[in-house]
Amino acid sequence: MTKIPKEKIIRLLKDQKEIFNDDLFEPKQQFVKPGKKDYPDLQSKAKKIGVKEPSQKEVQLFESEQETWETSNSLDELNKLICNCTKCGLHKNRNKFVFGSGNPNADVMVIGEGPGAEEDAQGLPFVGRAGKLLTDILKAIKFERDEVFIANIIKCRPPGNRTPLPDEMDTCIPYLKKQIELIQPKLILCLGLTAAKGLLKQKESLTKLRGKVYEYEGISTMVTFHPAALLRNPNWKRDCWEDVKKFRKLYDEIS
Ligand code: URA
Repeated sequence: MTKIPKEKIIRLLKDQKEIFNDDLFEPKQQFVKPGKKDYPDLQSKAKKIGVKEPSQKEVQLFESEQETWETSNSLDELNKLICNCTKCGLHKNRNKFVFGSGNPNADVMVIGEGPGAEEDAQGLPFVGRAGKLLTDILKAIKFERDEVFIANIIKCRPPGNRTPLPDEMDTCIPYLKKQIELIQPKLILCLGLTAAKGLLKQKESLTKLRGKVYEYEGISTMVTFHPAALLRNPNWKRDCWEDVKKFRKLYDEIS
């Protein structure tokens, strides 16, 4: 039998008390926080009053509630703690939470807007048509896709691929910021206006923002076109090429 930590039993008993009031407790007996030696008594008491042992899933959920994602020390840990997020309405329609993928020690982070249908199905960023173009753009400036880390402003697909709402962005961006803190890239490339607005808090148009170097928490950051926009308007590819060449030059200078 799995040994249940006393905190979990206390929590379960408290939950039961909240729902069912005192009925489940022995009359006149006050619930007292036990010392270590009282623990076996608690377990038998839990059985006596009909509190079921928590399932593995309940124990995991309880543990994850106790840990806070803000203090995660690795991307894997962070992913584990946030992948069941329900903080905004987007979770209701998601198939997969799209954490991001790539090299956890990447020098370069690429940030898009949010998952589309293919990303939502696979749980990976930029795996659709726009993703293929992104892979080609990165190759053109001599970065392999798995050498960089690719993430998005929001982690769950908005219905019909609409632009994320400001409150959805505000809710999700802290996760991205934590990813950046853990990865500590040397350079960031924002793809499209949503990424630029979200990370850099810029309000200008993409035409004004692209091609320049900004700072995010001391990390040099550039903005260029979103690959999906390039698929719709191939005429913009020339300007994008100029931006990413500059990005590569900047990378070579600081490396
Ligand atoms: N567009 C994005 O912004 N992100 C993805 O992951 C896929 C498409």
